Amino acid sequence: MPAKVVVGVQWGDEGKGKIIDILSSRADVVVRSQGGNNAGHTVENNDETYKLRLIPSGILYKDTDCMIGCGVVLNPESILEEINELKSRNINFDRFFIDPRVHVVMPWHILLDGASEKFRGKSDIGTTRRGIGPCYMDKAERSGIRMFDLINPDIFRKKAKNVGELKNRLLTEIYGENPIDIDSVIEKYIEYGKKLKPFVQDVSVKVFDAYNNGKEILFEGAQGTLLDIDVGTYPFVTSSNPISGGVCTGTGIGPTMIDEVIGVAKAYTTRVGKGPFPTELFDEVGDLIRDRGNEFGTNTGRARRIGWFDSVILRHAVRTNGLTGLAINKLDTLSKIETLKVCSAYKNQNGEIIRDFPTSLEELDNLTPVYEDFTGFNEDISNCKNYDDLPQSCKDYISRLEELCECPVKMVGVGPARSQNLER
Ligand code: GDP
Ligand code: IMO
Ligand code: MG
Repeated sequence: MPAKVVVGVQWGDEGKGKIIDILSSRADVVVRSQGGNNAGHTVENNDETYKLRLIPSGILYKDTDCMIGCGVVLNPESILEEINELKSRNINFDRFFIDPRVHVVMPWHILLDGASEKFRGKSDIGTTRRGIGPCYMDKAERSGIRMFDLINPDIFRKKAKNVGELKNRLLTEIYGENPIDIDSVIEKYIEYGKKLKPFVQDVSVKVFDAYNNGKEILFEGAQGTLLDIDVGTYPFVTSSNPISGGVCTGTGIGPTMIDEVIGVAKAYTTRVGKGPFPTELFDEVGDLIRDRGNEFGTNTGRARRIGWFDSVILRHAVRTNGLTGLAINKLDTLSKIETLKVCSAYKNQNGEIIRDFPTSLEELDNLTPVYEDFTGFNEDISNCKNYDDLPQSCKDYISRLEELCECPVKMVGVGPARSQNLER
């Protein structure tokens, strides 16, 4: 059976949760492969709103298996809170699995995230302060603590004691912060481990078996292409690979399993945190979109920065993810704006047209967007049930995006609900 990947193609918050929830109705297995509780995915379903951070958005379907692959970094306290909250809303967790190789976010990661942001001062990254970067640092440095360790108290105690002592030296001697009481952290985390142990299973094996048994697999992306540590706007990125390639290393499967990659974008662009944003709006149109689109972070509540749709970014995403189709969300939010703009390319100081997203921030600094103008639409499109019901101006806008992005648009979002998704 085919395996599909859903990825964000801007700077995150594109509405991946909604698309994954919709596609999960046809999937047997949904897998997360990177990131941690820096993600915030909102799913609206029959007047209920779910805000998911680590649990795959497939969890709302009672027959869909949900898995957390080895590339995720997991905060045990946060996931237990999420599990308890969902259980209280009658969601069952008999079909939920966590890979033993998953790295555990420890309290020192969170403190070090804050301390290093403080140390950077004005050049901070604007992280979610969830300890994500420091946890991936330890993974790469080969001193991380994994789920396997957490559920084996003797191993965990030894590792946490060693690492914790070093982290305390970093916190106190380098950053001038207070030390952590390591023994009490160890005891608290051993209790978390006991609660999480029933979910721990080899996800690489489970996904491979499901695939070989003809099951439909859906890989759920978190963050977005421009937050990718390799192809994103480094250093203003997250510490993992949100692009489709990250699914293979972050689940433990091979690329030949995947035959569809859907990129999720908004009909405009948003970004939380710092870093470059060529089409950013600083005027009342930006404020209008922020208010109308309720553009405040699901996770940290921060106001999102707003800008026009940027097809240079999208073409970068088409290439780096191997996209086979696009889902364009929040077209409804652009209603009642007289003129809509789309960035088709960038221009350098010599007036030369640049079509490919540059590799460094220094190059990007010297470029300005080239815009195409579109007549806006006044209609409320949130009740449209079919793509053909959309006003002609909306269809023209989508057709032009498709041409500029060089990728077919397969879905258009006209509202946050499951039913407000127009498939083509
Ligand atoms: P994710 O991180 O990519 O899953 O996206 P978030 O959940 O952080 O942010 C997307 C927000 O847009 C959520 O509040 C969704 O409910 C909402 N949303 C998704 N699609 C649409 C749409 O087509 N129209 C409107 N108005 N809202 C949408
Ligand atoms: P979802 O899955 C939007 C951003 C942070 C910051 C940068 C690094 O909901 O789309 P980190 O805490 O990861 O070290 O922060 O990445 N960021 C996100 N922005 N959506 C997300 O996830 C994000 N996850 C991280 O704001 O700029
Ligand atoms: Mg989000």
